[in-house]
Amino acid sequence: MSTRKLLVTSALPYANGDIHLGHLLEYLQTDMWVRFQKSRGHSCYYVCADDAHGTAIMLRAEQEGMTPEALIEKVKQAHQADFAKFGIAFDNYHSTHSEENRRHSEAIYLALREGGHIATRDIEQMYDPVKGLFLADRFIKGTCPKCHSPDQYGDNCEVCGAAYTPADLIDPVSAISGAKPVIKSSTHYFFKLPDFSEFLRGWLRSGTVQPQIANKLEEWFDTGLNEWDISRDAPYFGFEIPNAPGKYFYVWLDAPIGYLASFQNLCDREGIDFDAFWRKDSDAEVHHFIGKDIVYFHALFWPAMLEGAGLRTPTGVHCHGFVTVNGAKMSKSRGTFIKADTYARFLDPEYLRYYFAAKLTSRVDDLDLNLEDFTARVNADLVGKVVNIASRCAGFVHKQGGRLAARLPDTELLDRAVAAGDEIAESFEAREFARGVRRIMELADEANAYIAEQAPWALAKQPGSEQQVLDVCSLGLNLFRQLVVYLAPIVPRLAQDAQAFLGLDSLDWESRREALLDHPINKFKPLMTRVDSAKVEAMLEASKEVLAEEQKLKGGQANTPSALDQNPIADEIGIDEFAKIDLRIARITAAERVEGSSKLLKLTLDLGGETRTVFSGISKHYSPEALVDRLTVVVANLAPRKMRFGVSEGMVLAAGGDDGLHLLSPDSGAVPGQRVG
Ligand code: MSP
Ligand code: ZN
Repeated sequence: MSTRKLLVTSALPYANGDIHLGHLLEYLQTDMWVRFQKSRGHSCYYVCADDAHGTAIMLRAEQEGMTPEALIEKVKQAHQADFAKFGIAFDNYHSTHSEENRRHSEAIYLALREGGHIATRDIEQMYDPVKGLFLADRFIKGTCPKCHSPDQYGDNCEVCGAAYTPADLIDPVSAISGAKPVIKSSTHYFFKLPDFSEFLRGWLRSGTVQPQIANKLEEWFDTGLNEWDISRDAPYFGFEIPNAPGKYFYVWLDAPIGYLASFQNLCDREGIDFDAFWRKDSDAEVHHFIGKDIVYFHALFWPAMLEGAGLRTPTGVHCHGFVTVNGAKMSKSRGTFIKADTYARFLDPEYLRYYFAAKLTSRVDDLDLNLEDFTARVNADLVGKVVNIASRCAGFVHKQGGRLAARLPDTELLDRAVAAGDEIAESFEAREFARGVRRIMELADEANAYIAEQAPWALAKQPGSEQQVLDVCSLGLNLFRQLVVYLAPIVPRLAQDAQAFLGLDSLDWESRREALLDHPINKFKPLMTRVDSAKVEAMLEASKEVLAEEQKLKGGQANTPSALDQNPIADEIGIDEFAKIDLRIARITAAERVEGSSKLLKLTLDLGGETRTVFSGISKHYSPEALVDRLTVVVANLAPRKMRFGVSEGMVLAAGGDDGLHLLSPDSGAVPGQRVG
């Protein structure tokens, strides 16, 4: 078997959110494939990075009161900690906000420009005049032009499913500031994708993508490829385009180049020859694992960019489907939007690795994590079949000195298990993990059947049958060892513990060919416990809580009508700080519903001669009529806030939470304008 050189990547997770079980399907699939390649003796590097650029990250940092650099550093640490919990063993984990990435992004861009593949032209876009920002579609909200549902995003309606452009929205507003957007023109840079139509057709036909994906891409070719807008105007968190002040690379331009950057960082550290992997005539393989939502970027833009820049193109782009939980999209309210960290607090990550492997094919279909099936399957297969072989045999061997027999009774059974390794390897190589796992479990069944038939526990009671007991259990443990080698890429922690128990030098695929004869074994410790359904339930509950907590922390955004949504645990303040709050008695002189908002009431307040307009999120709790003429308490020196529906000049105070809302009112005798404190 000749040694291959492989560079393997998973998509780079965005640096503004936590890793969840959906992400994990991808990182686990890739990790298992990489571990398998390494076990086969190939030279294989697995690199990844955080995808750190873009408007969303810039705004999130602002919201959290930190610099984007600080935010992405914090998130990167959290991501790496989560990956480690699940045994995902990157050879390098980097960031797209790195010098290596700046260098490669500039070089690729300049090569494309040199080749005549960059165009510039002016385009008109919606612009937030308050925030001073061009607005991407998802930062524009308004009323759906088709079904008239309020509060829909700029690209499609979540209620009726209509697709449109932001210009079609009725009464569009900036989702960031609430301001009415204006149309503004600016110069943009475009990558001339159509230059690569012929090249891409050939590349796609050469077996680089799955058939399902190739078919889908054919449709895109039929409608014609478009030039791709690769620039964004300042302010933007990213890399400035060379010789284009105030223009930045769009996040998706430098994101895949992040694969090169992370690998470059590894090469510099370990003295690996970067060019040997990326020059045009490289004999190395490059494999990208991605989800089905980002095919366009990886199977069109990316190979075209590489080709245009004179670099090699990927050997394979391997696309997986989406994770569903109990048959439905992951849902925050059902608790099935499960974060990696939450899972790991309740359940062994190796259960999930096994379950995903047992269901993964090379196709793009979605994968359902059915939690009952998950529990049953892990318990039946890993605990009931695999670990069981070792626990049934270990004791008898230890009773006879802890050394396996020098000869095995039934070499045919072992030979078959060894031979099956070639077939299993073929499945794993083709990313048909489910097929490979099925074969492994067949071998486990055969081993268990053999042990049950020989019944060493019964033999052990018959005098003079020590050798026979040792022979049976030695064969049992040799069969177990085959399973461990095959399962090692899938459940590396279990395999490592089994390796220690069996005293193996190696878990490499080829190491299995040499039987363990007259070989000392070590103390047996339970290798895996059963999945506890109560813990599964607890994990779902905890997921609900984690998300509820997050919703609370999201307070303080534009459009938040009251401070009640904010974190209830406030820091201590001094009397001086308290004195800064100007609380006044106000009379509600008018109250009306706000068109297009289910939450807000528009209140007109009399503060003793001064009239104020305040938008308050109390519409679900009070009818406007019931409020007129009531006295209440208002924060009078709150900075005016521009909202979708107008400017709010203060805040009325109310008590409450999930169980209702109660507007504060003074005892009789108080008069509008009076100071409260
Ligand atoms: N930052 C981009 C990728 C840039 S690659 C140069 C991105 N990030 S992501 O965090 O949204 O997603 C990372 C990967 O996780 C993607 O491949 C995506 O398809 C995958 N998944 C995210 N949610 C998923 C599920 N629910 N199920 C399966 N995979 C999912 O896209
Ligand atoms: Zn609609």
